[in-house]
Amino acid sequence: MQVKIVIGTISLMLTMIILGFAALREPSRLEDFTLARQGRQIENGAELFQSQCMTCHGVNGKAEECYDAATGEQIGCAGLPLNYGPLLCEDTSQRMINMNWEGSKPAFIQATISSGRYGTAMPTWAADFGGPLRPDEIEDLVQFVLNWETEELCSAPAFQYEWPATIEELLAEFPEGDAARGKELYVTYGCSGCHGDPEGDSAWAGTGPWQGHLAEEAGTRIEGMSGQQYVYESVLYPNNYIVEQCPTGPCNTPSAMASNNFYARMGDTAEKPQDLVDIMTYLGILP
Ligand code: HEC
Ligand code: HEC
Repeated sequence: MQVKIVIGTISLMLTMIILGFAALREPSRLEDFTLARQGRQIENGAELFQSQCMTCHGVNGKAEECYDAATGEQIGCAGLPLNYGPLLCEDTSQRMINMNWEGSKPAFIQATISSGRYGTAMPTWAADFGGPLRPDEIEDLVQFVLNWETEELCSAPAFQYEWPATIEELLAEFPEGDAARGKELYVTYGCSGCHGDPEGDSAWAGTGPWQGHLAEEAGTRIEGMSGQQYVYESVLYPNNYIVEQCPTGPCNTPSAMASNNFYARMGDTAEKPQDLVDIMTYLGILP
């Protein structure tokens, strides 16, 4: 009798210990499971990014190096950088503020990918809206893009060059323009994607006006403003003045150029403003 009770008690205690141990391990198993799932999502997302998104958003999502999917030839990046602090850092990132987004960051990226951006080159991707991708594929891409948010990306204090009010002040700091470098930058910043090739056909039917004649026209846009000052401001503050005529009709307001955020992108290091001087030299705006 006594022995049975002892055995019963011991086995009950053993069961409880085993169950308790399993219960303790449960959260970490869940965590492993979630991490493994997220890892697979990121892997799938990486493949999708490479096949669907890289032609516009570039190698590593930097929008610096883009290749034509068919020919493999290097082309201008039509998309924005996605591996980019102002898009990914902080719970409410700079881009979310610019776009008046009030939900979460994953939802911002999810919505952008799903619906695209109407009136820009960013296509609609969700099958629900007529695009080619399933909901789980969109989710994989969201995880892949979010995965670029690293401490390294976000701990570097965001540098913002204080653009001076006038082009003369900029030139005092960056006196020399390099037209050949400007020609390359005109492609890598995506100017050519909207404005065409300024040395090519003037019958350009893209989003923005062809710029082969810009050097002659720039000085006539705003009374009393030099062409140099006008182009300087057009790139940094596209919404200050909207050109009347775009190739396929009146230009839209706000400017299609605004979300490219050249103010930030050409000023995110102390040397970058040189890029604008080089582009303006290439376009014949600066000598
Ligand atoms: C044909 C070119 C093109 C392709 C292909 C493309 N995008 Fe875009 N994408 C753009 C452009 C242009 C914008 C900027 C739209 C704007 O002006 O707001 C953009 C914007 C975005 C943004 C928002 C960035 C921001 O700062 O607001 C995300 C996120 C994005 N794209 C993800 C993707 C993903 C993921 C894919 C692949 C499934 C993809 N894009 C494919 C052109 C493209
Ligand atoms: C997403 C398309 C797009 C991109 C990319 C783009 N632009 Fe534009 N740009 C436009 C549109 C549309 C206009 C006309 C509306 C306006 O005034 O903003 C314009 C206007 C301009 C103007 C004023 C032109 C005039 O005839 O008065 C200048 C200068 C200019 N862009 C330079 C640039 C440069 C330099 C780049 C690259 C660093 C660039 N743009 C990138 C679409 C774009």
